[in-house]
Amino acid sequence: RKQVTIPTLKKMHRGGEPITMITAHDFPSAHVADAAGVDVILVGDSLAMVALGMEDTSEVLLEEMLLHCRSVARATKAAFTIGDLPMGSYEISPTQALETAIRFKKDGRMQGVKLEGGQEMVPSIEKIVGVGIPVLGHIGLTPQRQHMFGGFRVQGKTKDGAEKVLEDALALQEAGCFALVIEAVPAEVAALITQKLSIPTIGIGAGNGCSGQVLVQVDMTGNFPPGRRIPKFVKQYGNVWSESLRAIEAYRDEVKSRQYPAPEHTYDMPKQEFERFVE
Ligand code: KIV
Ligand code: NA
Repeated sequence: RKQVTIPTLKKMHRGGEPITMITAHDFPSAHVADAAGVDVILVGDSLAMVALGMEDTSEVLLEEMLLHCRSVARATKAAFTIGDLPMGSYEISPTQALETAIRFKKDGRMQGVKLEGGQEMVPSIEKIVGVGIPVLGHIGLTPQRQHMFGGFRVQGKTKDGAEKVLEDALALQEAGCFALVIEAVPAEVAALITQKLSIPTIGIGAGNGCSGQVLVQVDMTGNFPPGRRIPKFVKQYGNVWSESLRAIEAYRDEVKSRQYPAPEHTYDMPKQEFERFVE
């Protein structure tokens, strides 16, 4: 498979081919996503919750993100890779944002970065894009600001709310983003915004009128313990957690009953050597 680049993504968008994006947070999850042929792999800060067990994405540190980015980069051969700037690593100034974006490239081995926010992020995006690092915007529901919204709330449900999302989208396009994630916005609003833009939109909980889709890998593969609350927009395509549970329980049972390891899992020694050894 050929390496996906920004021109490849532009070409897909021009040709009306949906762009597929999924998160990965380590070597195996990136390896399987790349093998499945997705176009873009995002090391999302959602790894705070799904891989590190934190309450909130805003808890994850820059150094922690970079460690995960490097492991994803090692496994990814063809997909375009994007690292998610964590809360606190980019909001203070355009200079801070640029410094962090450069760390994602050099230390994280990512090809592009994503950051959350609308018009207020324009100077930072211009600065990052200005040195040739592709930036993916993220508007609508931006989880790093969930406490401002009062939780994971759908955005752009009112005329004013929808106008805000549209204005943010246009500002980010103007600032030089190569694409925008639109999260948790009514389908008709996201579709209209997509029509008004010349760059692709990647929807998550934003309906089928976006230029592409993104999901959190552990959610869509069902790789989480029973009881985790998953958003309405997630379609669960697998049941990886149950399959892992089944395998590990079978292993436990076979060890307890001495069925495992069987002769085929065992190394032998020439009989003579063994006899000399026990003497
Ligand atoms: O952190 C993340 O996984 C994300 C995607 C859901 C867009 O930001
Ligand atoms: Na994120």
